[in-house]
Amino acid sequence: MKINENYYNLEQSYLFSTVARKVNEFSKNNPDKKIIRLGIGDVTLPLCKAVVDALHSAADEMGNKETFRGYGPEQGYDFLQNAVKKYYENRNVELDTDEIFISDGAKSDLGNILDLFSKDNTVLVPDPVYPVYVDTNVMAGRNVVYANANESNGFLPLPDSNQKPDIIYICSPNNPTGAVYNKEQLKKWVDYALNVKAVILFDAAYECFISDDTLPKSIYEISGAKKCAIEFCSLSKTAGFTGTRCGYTVVPHELGELNKFWLRRQTTKFNGVPYIVQRAAQAVFSDEGQKEIKENINYYKENAKLISLTLDECNIWHVGGKNSPYIWLKCPNNMKSWEFFDYLLENIQVVGTPGSGFGKNGEGFFRLTSFGSRENTKEAMERFKKLFKV
Ligand code: MLT
Repeated sequence: MKINENYYNLEQSYLFSTVARKVNEFSKNNPDKKIIRLGIGDVTLPLCKAVVDALHSAADEMGNKETFRGYGPEQGYDFLQNAVKKYYENRNVELDTDEIFISDGAKSDLGNILDLFSKDNTVLVPDPVYPVYVDTNVMAGRNVVYANANESNGFLPLPDSNQKPDIIYICSPNNPTGAVYNKEQLKKWVDYALNVKAVILFDAAYECFISDDTLPKSIYEISGAKKCAIEFCSLSKTAGFTGTRCGYTVVPHELGELNKFWLRRQTTKFNGVPYIVQRAAQAVFSDEGQKEIKENINYYKENAKLISLTLDECNIWHVGGKNSPYIWLKCPNNMKSWEFFDYLLENIQVVGTPGSGFGKNGEGFFRLTSFGSRENTKEAMERFKKLFKV
């Protein structure tokens, strides 16, 4: 047996596992202290009524001989593909149903899609960014280069003509910084990708947090994008599916064999999302479902506002939160990211995510999520004020 030695090149553990380990250790040694977790972007509101009703009725179908279902189509049932298609149509994006692939979430597909690409590709990843993009490419032994996101470009790097990548990752609204590309900026990336013949892997997992209607929620709102971009989306943050698991990936026919190859990959390595979950996902796109999930999203947006106002009061520089569930702040007193993490845990037991875990440009920054309960978010912010308000 020869091991995949690329694994030696990874960080010792996945960012969120390291955070969880540190928090668990602290909790074991300080059982009387109440920890507030605003670290991993995990939702706290329950599934909405339309979704729960759909889960119940699909469970009943599965318990009935006449309506029971076994294996489904690996790429998803057409009722869900059609619901997604309609969702895009509402934004003037026309897709064919066989361009839409239902999956168990964006993270898996973002990693799995790499099966389609040769090891020899150079990959361009923004820094800082969601660690899965880098880790999955390191596992495969691909060469990764970076686009620097920093304060001076508003954490929205634009193409650099000196770089010639084959695969480009874009996450907008961005995890972790909350920055969102406007249409002109995204058009620059599309034109660049077409020019250098690269494919863009566009992560739209946070699209539903965009409040500003002028900002693009899908890369296909940009002309030419179907010729160069694959889009990933998930119901995790949109509809509280972090534990229920459902997402979708769009591979346009205009990308040539990539559509056919992705189907081939999925039919070989994936058996599809459970029928019950796909019915639940379909309910997210119903009128009732859309209304209900918007209420939940607004709840998180209110949390984001609360965090942002508190940071203002404490004079802590930050961005994000307006069109995204993440608030990206500069660690006070020039602290390093992990130093600030420890400082908060020790002093006020508030957990966030160290910016350096998202890349070298994240050093000195810190991410808070708005996915906590209102009560916990309020309490965390009161604790912040006690520690930082001058
Ligand atoms: C995050 O906190 O960045 C996300 O929850 C991670 C994920 O979606 O996998």
